[in-house]
Amino acid sequence: MEVYEAIRARHSVRSYRDRAVEPAKLARVLEAARLAPSARNEQEWRFVVVSDLPKREALATQASTQAFMLEAPLIIAACAQTDGRVMRCGQLAYPIDVAIALDHFSLAAVAEGLGTCWIGSFDPAQVRRILGIPPEVQVVGLMLLGYPRENTEPLKKSRLPLEQIVHREAW
Ligand SMILES: Cc1cc2nc3c(=O)[nH]c(=O)nc-3n(C[C@H](O)[C@H](O)[C@H](O)COP(=O)(O)O)c2cc1C
Repeated sequence: MEVYEAIRARHSVRSYRDRAVEPAKLARVLEAARLAPSARNEQEWRFVVVSDLPKREALATQASTQAFMLEAPLIIAACAQTDGRVMRCGQLAYPIDVAIALDHFSLAAVAEGLGTCWIGSFDPAQVRRILGIPPEVQVVGLMLLGYPRENTEPLKKSRLPLEQIVHREAW
C-alpha cells in the first residue's frame, strides 16, 4: 500500500469485528513501531500487548468506560522506560518518541487491513495496576487493534485547512 493511501485511509476505529488478529500481522505492525525514529535513538518505547478478556475489561472500565474498547481483540499499552530526559528544545523526548512509534503502528495496521484507535482517556495508575507495569515506567497511550466492521466507513476528515496551520518564512 502506498504511504499516502494509508495516511488517508487511517481513522479512529471504534467498532471491531469479532475476529482475532493473526500473530504474523501483529508482528509486522509492531515491527513498524520498532523502526520509528527516536531522540538520540534511545528507543524508550515498550509495548504491552493485551488479549486477555478480564484484563481488557478492566482496562476499558478504567478508561472512562469506553465500552467500544472491548470490541477490539487487542489493546496495546504503549509505555516508556525513561529517565524523563528533556531535550535542548525544552520538550520531553519520550512522549514524542512513543507517539511516532504509535503512528507507524497505526499506518502499518491500515496496510494490514486492520484498524486502530488511540485512547488517551485513561488512568495511568490503574493501567499500571492491571498490567503490572513498574512505577518508573510511563504509560503514554493505549492503542486498540483489530479488524474494523465492514460497514464503518471513515468519516470525511475534519481538519484545519493548510492556510490556517502553515506560516511561510516567519510566524
Ligand atoms: C493523543 C490522542 C488521544 C486520543 N484519545 C482518545 C480517546 O480516549 N478515545 C477516543 O475514542 N479517541 C481518542 N483519540 C482519537 C481522536 O479522537 C481522533 O484521532 C481524532 O478525532 C481524529 O479522528 P481520526 O483519528 O478518525 O482521523 C485520541 C487520539 C490521540 C492522538
